Amino acid sequence: MFGAPKIRDKSMWASRIAQGMDILINHSINGFNAMPAKGGNANLSDEEIKNAVAFMVSQSQ
Ligand code: HEM
Repeated sequence: MFGAPKIRDKSMWASRIAQGMDILINHSINGFNAMPAKGGNANLSDEEIKNAVAFMVSQSQ
């Protein structure tokens, strides 16, 4: 949605993954361009976001 990188689409993820997990997690917790902070759900814990990012990356490399 709104240009979000699609899980399992390696071409959309390679350069993002190359930034390293710390940056991906930071962008996911705090928001990044059109990516809303915590995906728009402030009730999610940082741990839940970390786990979601780890899963997305594991499926996309
Ligand atoms: C908990 C749910 C979500 C997680 C864990 C998540 C995670 C991520 C990650 C890891 C990236 C890559 C950031 C980077 O390249 O540094 C990203 C990018 C993005 N996400 Fe999400 N996302 C979530 C929900 C959403 C939702 C609901 C939307 C749209 C309403 C969205 C829109 C985007 C967009 C547009 C980008 C690309 C930003 C850019 O490169 O300019 N995401 N997301």
